[in-house]
Amino acid sequence: MTRTLRNALLGAAFGLALAAGPAGAATIKVGVVAPFSGPFGVAGKTFREAIEVYQAQHGKTVGNDTVEFVYKDLDQANPAQSKALSQELIVKEKVSFLAGYFFTPDALAVAPLIDEANIPCVIFNAATSAITEKSPRYVRTSFTLWQNTVPLAEYMAKQGIKKAVSAVSDYGPGLDGEAAFKTTFEKHGGTVVDSIRMPLKSTDFAPFMQRIKDSGAEAVYAFLPAGPTTLAFAKAFNDTGLKAAGIKFFGPGDLTQEPDLPALGDAALGVTTTFNYSRAHDSAMNKAFVAKHKEMFGSTDTVTFSSVGAYDGVHVIYQMIKNGGGGKIDGAKAVESVKGMSWESPRGPLTIDPDSRHVTQTIYLRTVEKVDGKLENVEKEAFPKQPDYGYKVAK
Ligand code: PHB
Repeated sequence: MTRTLRNALLGAAFGLALAAGPAGAATIKVGVVAPFSGPFGVAGKTFREAIEVYQAQHGKTVGNDTVEFVYKDLDQANPAQSKALSQELIVKEKVSFLAGYFFTPDALAVAPLIDEANIPCVIFNAATSAITEKSPRYVRTSFTLWQNTVPLAEYMAKQGIKKAVSAVSDYGPGLDGEAAFKTTFEKHGGTVVDSIRMPLKSTDFAPFMQRIKDSGAEAVYAFLPAGPTTLAFAKAFNDTGLKAAGIKFFGPGDLTQEPDLPALGDAALGVTTTFNYSRAHDSAMNKAFVAKHKEMFGSTDTVTFSSVGAYDGVHVIYQMIKNGGGGKIDGAKAVESVKGMSWESPRGPLTIDPDSRHVTQTIYLRTVEKVDGKLENVEKEAFPKQPDYGYKVAK
């Protein structure tokens, strides 16, 4: 052996030993991209809190490896910035996983990166069906608009509603919601009399309320990304007299997310939605989740759908690390190893569909009611084993 080669090998071994630390233990990093500031800052907060709850309950290690989360703030839907931050996480932080992503365009932007770097990307929220078709490295633990809307449109038709109008934010998930609603509602005998698309950045909803009124519909199906958007839309619905006029208000549960219920106040009472998670879900596991959150953060005001999107996402990442047997993660093998995985979540039973890599789950019909003086989404009906009805639907 030449001296230089020997030195190089020794150097490499020494370097490895340093990186691996004592007894082969490594630090495995997970990069989380989400809004931690700005109008949607609550979403990032729900991710971070849920990650901390999971680690408090399950520990920060998997085998000999320590799992460390690295956070990057992306305050609004901004695909170019999402790509830049994710690239920084891969190149500088050397993360083994990417995770988070509240808005669809931000999740979509990383497809070429995760393919090239062979890194799994676990989506905690972004809900447009087509995302997981864009790279085999995506796994999603949230919901899709199709998944929530199909049971809702069927329920609305069964209630005897004949004429409805849809009003959605004009981007990926809104367009999925609009299509899922029209297809399903009309299949069950209803008519969609108008399909309203609202710019994502709208803050003045009065003109859209007028259009809903003019449509002559008995009911509205609405989707906007949860946050100041849904809050302003729901308030406008009441303030412009649509509620008083007897128009019924439906949508996926983004509309009545728990952090907004105090601000919506009694105006939210009676609003019926479908969704994958309610803070009030009655199970031992959810009670433990909510109690641990309260113990750690002093209140449960922010516990909502994006909390369980993150909590279950961390569970999947832990399982991928376990399946890899320690040390360096092979992204393709890691994703392969969780296809078909089933577990119990605070929201109910979950399975990762091996084709769509999206969770099949129970969708609940809920109505906002007061429980011990606090507004909650109270579950009324459960639709088990709902797949992503939008996966590979021709667009
Ligand atoms: C999305 O951009 O995919 C999205 C954002 C917020 C939601 C739902 C979907 O509440």
